[in-house]
Amino acid sequence: MKVIVADDYGMMSKEAAEIVAAEIRKKPDCVLALPTGGTPLGLYAELVRMHKEEGLDFSCVFAFNLDEYIGLPEDHESSYNFYMHDRLFNHVNISRDRIRIPCGLAEDPEEEAAAYEWAIKRAGGIDLAVLGIGRNGHIGFNEPRTEFGSLTRPIYLAKRTIEANARFFQENPDAVPRRAISMGIRTIMNSRKIILLASGVEKSHAVNQTVHGPVTEMVPSSVLQLHPDCTLILDKDAASELEPSPNGFIPGPGIKTMVY
Ligand code: F6R
Repeated sequence: MKVIVADDYGMMSKEAAEIVAAEIRKKPDCVLALPTGGTPLGLYAELVRMHKEEGLDFSCVFAFNLDEYIGLPEDHESSYNFYMHDRLFNHVNISRDRIRIPCGLAEDPEEEAAAYEWAIKRAGGIDLAVLGIGRNGHIGFNEPRTEFGSLTRPIYLAKRTIEANARFFQENPDAVPRRAISMGIRTIMNSRKIILLASGVEKSHAVNQTVHGPVTEMVPSSVLQLHPDCTLILDKDAASELEPSPNGFIPGPGIKTMVY
């Protein structure tokens, strides 16, 4: 597992954007899996800048969201559909028919999830999955105890996740949905390349368990130790609990890279 530690959130976001942009340049019709939440806001801002100032071309890119709340219409301000359009899709030249986000209002969420999993397969599988991480080690909305063999499916959010996400429902923090459709652990692990972003000291424990902890379904992100091409991109605070790598580190301007 490769770990990049950036001096601050801005550098972490730029580093992640460089990796996403490199994937798009290498394979213009690449398939991306994308997260929402607070962590990737800087990444999306940087990708929008790269599109506007450097001509980064999204026209052939396929984008699959990691998850969506069940019960919210896509134009609801707290839906992940709204978030993705507001933060990224409306500002780059991605083709609308290459954007897939689970429908939060699907009559049959199981069927919607199965169709979503199938759509990922039909697109050729995920080339690059971009992940955030919950304080409990969740990736996507795969909460502790999720089976490593899980595929896209309807899930129940953990109490801690509902509490953490109440900040995005300022008008009514009690309105955070209890359920979502999420890519499964196996769906994510099948990606050819994975990057995970984490910022802030409140993520440091989960990051430490991801890198050093036992591989266990109690810490879903620990499964990433088994992936052949996974890079964590952290700011200093998120990296603050990590043991130094026995292999030392490769320094760079504002960042250092370690291999565990
Ligand atoms: C959201 C997602 C979640 C978040 C995680 C961290 O699409 O998949 O796993 O990445 O809850 O959220 P933030 O970045 O808000 O701390």
